[in-house]
Amino acid sequence: MKNLLLVECGPRFEHSISRAAAALVVEHLRRREPGMRILRRDLACVPPSFVDEAFTQAMYIPPDRQSASERAALAQSEILIGELEATDVLVIATPMHNFTVPAVLKAWIDQVLRIGRTFRSTPQGKQGLLADRPVYVVISSGGWIAGERARQPDFLTPYLAALLATLGIRTIGFLYLEAMHGEADLPLRAEAHARAWLDANLPLPAEAAVQCFVR
Ligand SMILES: Cc1cc2nc3c(=O)[nH]c(=O)nc-3n(C[C@H](O)[C@H](O)[C@H](O)COP(=O)(O)O)c2cc1C
Repeated sequence: MKNLLLVECGPRFEHSISRAAAALVVEHLRRREPGMRILRRDLACVPPSFVDEAFTQAMYIPPDRQSASERAALAQSEILIGELEATDVLVIATPMHNFTVPAVLKAWIDQVLRIGRTFRSTPQGKQGLLADRPVYVVISSGGWIAGERARQPDFLTPYLAALLATLGIRTIGFLYLEAMHGEADLPLRAEAHARAWLDANLPLPAEAAVQCFVR
């Protein structure tokens, strides 16, 4: 049986566009794999801790030499990494906040991207220690973030692509819900567009980064 991990981080719940669009992605994936288990990690409900001094000291100690307090400092990181390792498909739903990811998603990233644990540093650069698997990144934004109409930088896309690659994950589908300012729910036109894209693009081609803009 396959596992899907849904990571959500938006501060809105009922009327959230990123959450509604991620639910569509999960629905499509589940239709293909009816028995798939869904694990939800809601970072807005339970924000991960910020990395502190104890964490930064413990992360450089090899696991077999860690003391009980060093293991405790990394305990939350181990839980979040364990969820990632156990997942066959990852869905990340995120609003754009100030051109990049919300702070709670950054806190999650700092917990899961750990030197010597999920990537290693080599003279050739960082090498991911996780197996590749499909990741669907659902991004909602108030304004346009790509193309001629964009009047703001998009640091979110290259950032998430780079850190997933650092983990070893290269099969990524980006679904953008752009120019959603003033929308309280996923507009019907956007839902239809997203469904059509999902029908056409699932499953993702291995090691490809595929983008779809829904406006
Ligand atoms: C703190 C904050 C910062 C935001 N920054 C941006 C931004 O940089 N660019 C943008 O287009 N929209 C920005 N927005 C708008 C949200 O991305 C947009 O409303 C999105 O649809 C929210 O996601 P949700 O519908 O899942 O809650 C911001 C919203 C908030 C609350």
